[in-house]
Amino acid sequence: MTDPKWSTVDAYFESKLFRADPVLEACLRSSREAGLPEIQVSPVQGRLLELIAGAANARRILEIGTLGGYSAICLARALPEDGRLVTLEIEQKHAEVARTNIERAGLGAMVEIRLGPALETLPKLLAERAGPFDLAFLDADRPNNRAYLEWALRLTHPGSLIIVDNVVRGGEVADPAQRDPRVAGVREMIDAVAAESRLRATAVQTVGNKGYDGFLLARVQAPEPKPKARRAANDR
Ligand code: SAH
Ligand code: DHB
Ligand code: MG
Repeated sequence: MTDPKWSTVDAYFESKLFRADPVLEACLRSSREAGLPEIQVSPVQGRLLELIAGAANARRILEIGTLGGYSAICLARALPEDGRLVTLEIEQKHAEVARTNIERAGLGAMVEIRLGPALETLPKLLAERAGPFDLAFLDADRPNNRAYLEWALRLTHPGSLIIVDNVVRGGEVADPAQRDPRVAGVREMIDAVAAESRLRATAVQTVGNKGYDGFLLARVQAPEPKPKARRAANDR
């Protein structure tokens, strides 16, 4: 139930702020033609991801959940020439469509798509020392959000950003009557963020083409310095 007003406002900002973007348009067209679910980030959200990655000077980006490569293209556009984005996808068909879309965007050399369940690929990335990543975008199956957060913490460094999509979903997250395991996965992830002293976080609610939803944004902090051992004099 998306209020048509929200989509109208998205369309207004797209018409004012965005130039024609044949690369992203072709990405959407080919994803639709291949029968992929139309659940990629919206154009204004994709531009937000690009701006955040750019402002963070991200050189290495990790994405979980590639779909047709729309958000990967947005994020990779912020990378410097020697930058790198690794994106994890479980569905071979999605990965193939994404590969074509990313090649067409001219980003093929920067972007690596890793096929398989993310929870199998993430330990491999750690073993290969593929990180540390400056930005991680978590946008796959929500029941695994908490586990993805933990892997993102292992694969990032102080100063990195972790962004999680779909944390609001029409307000479900804060509805005590909502018992869906996907929502439970989001709440467990949020509880883990809350309990993690290394993370400073916020959440932004979004409305628009994607309905009422939101992103969690967290920055990895430097570890708190250990309190200095009290000098013996103070103990007297
Ligand atoms: N980030 C994309 C949208 C991702 S949709 C964009 O905005 O353009 C979620 C994707 O996660 C789907 O393609 C789905 O196949 C994938 N996915 C679901 N479970 C997964 C898992 N366990 N490991 C890796 N990918 C998974
Ligand atoms: C769904 C998944 C997403 O990542 C998203 O942004 C929107 C919808 C879904 O599974 O329905
Ligand atoms: Mg999403």
